[in-house]
Amino acid sequence: MAGTLIFGAGGQLGKELSFMMKDAICFEHSKESMTTDVENKEWLEKVFSKYQPEVVINAAAYTDVDGCEIHRERAFSTNALAVKNIANLCGKYSSRFFHVSTDYVFDGKTGSYHENDVPSPINYYGLSKIIGDAFALSYDRTIVIRTSGVYGRKNNFPLFLYNSMKSGNRMKIIKGYYSPIHARLLAKSMMEIIEKHSELHGVINIAGVRVSRMELARSIASRFNLEFNDPEEVDFIPSLKAARPYDSSLDISYGKTIIGFDFYSLDRNLSCFADDLNRKENIT
Ligand SMILES: NC(=O)c1ccc[n+]([C@@H]2O[C@H](COP(=O)([O-])OP(=O)(O)OC[C@H]3O[C@@H](n4cnc5c(N)ncnc54)[C@H](OP(=O)(O)O)[C@@H]3O)[C@@H](O)[C@H]2O)c1
Repeated sequence: MAGTLIFGAGGQLGKELSFMMKDAICFEHSKESMTTDVENKEWLEKVFSKYQPEVVINAAAYTDVDGCEIHRERAFSTNALAVKNIANLCGKYSSRFFHVSTDYVFDGKTGSYHENDVPSPINYYGLSKIIGDAFALSYDRTIVIRTSGVYGRKNNFPLFLYNSMKSGNRMKIIKGYYSPIHARLLAKSMMEIIEKHSELHGVINIAGVRVSRMELARSIASRFNLEFNDPEEVDFIPSLKAARPYDSSLDISYGKTIIGFDFYSLDRNLSCFADDLNRKENIT
């Protein structure tokens, strides 16, 4: 019997979780092999039967928002159907299930979304994820961690801003707000819930403070002494296939009552980003 299984251990969140949870059994996705693929039901059944896990974390997802718009079957298979199979197996083996959701389940018309607000996705990624959330929540020992703008050891928006400003490029930035969080603080928050809050279930928003993309760029410029060369704020970028919600920020007041450290401030999150830069662990 194993303690914890982590699916999607090669992703931004999955990597941080696997570094923190030394005893966890971690599965990284491999494009060459059908094992470690959460869409492979037979493989999942074998893994559950072998390890009989107490805790299962699904950090695997098809997160390319524009890719999901085009490759809808893949999006549905990874973000929805696979979650159904994992939730069913968690039920069979009485495992506690941690699944990860997104702010993109909302249309972005109002912002500061609460855990109980009704989703209304405007792109296929959001639609596939909300169906996955529903499957996950059909099991009563599930926690759905809903988050926003995750950035870690991979190409991501803050890194794009940093690199663009460093090389003096004038950026185009889409108007709007969200609640970006560094993957390490998200993983640490999840660990705290796993270790200290066995009574919880349902949706919990764990994300950073609400910020506009422009404010984020300005904060990165000032923190790293980069020139803020008057970025152009645009309504949309024509090459993007999927619509983006204007204000997908999340209300994190419930999460703050549960987690005993600062997972949300921009300053704390950019410190993690700076640590990665110092260790050259962001991919450029
Ligand atoms: N990134 C964000 O801005 C953001 C915002 C809100 C919510 N979230 C949610 O947070 C969670 C973690 O996101 P992240 O930023 O860590 O994403 P990520 O870096 O893209 O990691 C996702 C991981 O899942 C793997 N994966 C994809 N399809 C799979 C499959 N069929 N079987 C097994 N593994 C598979 C990917 O492998 P490959 O790279 O080989 O495909 C990747 O390693 C996801 O649920 C995501 O929806 C993310």
